[in-house]
Amino acid sequence: MSDKKLIAVIGATGAQGGGIARAILADADGEFALRAVTRNPDSDNAKALAAAGAEVVAADLDDEASLAAAFDGAFGAYCLTNFWEHFSGEKEEAQAGNLARAAKSAGLEHVIWSTFEDTRESIPLDDDRMPTLQGKYKVAHFDAKAVGNQAFTAAGVPTTFLLTSFYWENFIYFAMGPARGEDGVLGVTYPMGDKKLPSIAVEDIGKCAYGLFKTGDKYLGKTVGVVGGEPTGADIAAAFSKALGEEVRYNDVPADVFRSFGFPGADDVGNMFQFKRDFNELYTGNRSIEFSRSLNPELQSLDQWLAANLSRVPIG
Ligand SMILES: NC(=O)c1ccc[n+]([C@@H]2O[C@H](COP(=O)([O-])OP(=O)(O)OC[C@H]3O[C@@H](n4cnc5c(N)ncnc54)[C@H](OP(=O)(O)O)[C@@H]3O)[C@@H](O)[C@H]2O)c1
Repeated sequence: MSDKKLIAVIGATGAQGGGIARAILADADGEFALRAVTRNPDSDNAKALAAAGAEVVAADLDDEASLAAAFDGAFGAYCLTNFWEHFSGEKEEAQAGNLARAAKSAGLEHVIWSTFEDTRESIPLDDDRMPTLQGKYKVAHFDAKAVGNQAFTAAGVPTTFLLTSFYWENFIYFAMGPARGEDGVLGVTYPMGDKKLPSIAVEDIGKCAYGLFKTGDKYLGKTVGVVGGEPTGADIAAAFSKALGEEVRYNDVPADVFRSFGFPGADDVGNMFQFKRDFNELYTGNRSIEFSRSLNPELQSLDQWLAANLSRVPIG
């Protein structure tokens, strides 16, 4: 155990970080070992990681010194921030800065930063096709992560910038799966027109990230994008129809309508879908299924994910 290279995983108790945590644990004979970072080592998820063989340490993204201590002695780190806990782009930027400076002070040799595009490079703040949010973002949970890129670069941290994709688990946890319309027919509702929605099983983001650590320094300083499939809204409806044995429609709604749905963050998610729809070539071009499969030969398709997870998706 002691001769293994430690990878500190931020968010190891959650969906995305949990994927890479489990990938490291599953490779018991591999060159890496897991240090799970959490605010609460006494949580059930943290205890389960410890029971599975992880070292579990406490740190908070808001506390740079705690992160530096959590990274001390590690080889690398998987770094993410959780916009949906506080809905603040500025806070996400600050947390990225804390991660970057802590990684530098600990002398980490390989950091993977979970990031997204800066949508303002495609749709500037004065472009009124979509509202500006929080005074300085178009898609706050994208743009703030992209600003975070600069913190890692400025600190001189050897970093791979990992563009992730929409999780299929959003069908489970974010009510983005089929719901019954007033006519009783099931439908999925996204403002995506007929464009592709690059998307992935969250577990596969983790497996791809683990694959990146295994490639050594090949992707340091590079931006790479992972994706499991590129279904359109109609394709997602068809996949659910097939899996359920019942008609599922695709409701293509205007982005303004989606933004008005009223759930927390609906404006940010609406802008996100609109960015993916209106800059579809750029967005899909930044992610590659073939590359993702080269990192993770077990990469799932949407049909495979549905076959394994349909019972977890709330329907109706
Ligand atoms: N949903 C999607 O389709 C999608 C796709 C790509 C990227 N993302 C991004 O993924 C992020 C959310 O990650 P997730 O889906 O894994 O969420 P999650 O399942 O809710 O897990 C959040 C994780 O972040 C950790 N965390 C949050 N705040 C922390 C803090 N202050 N200090 C230390 N750890 C903290 C939590 O650890 P503890 O509670 O144990 O401390 C937990 O492990 C968001 O930024 C989102 O934009 C989402």
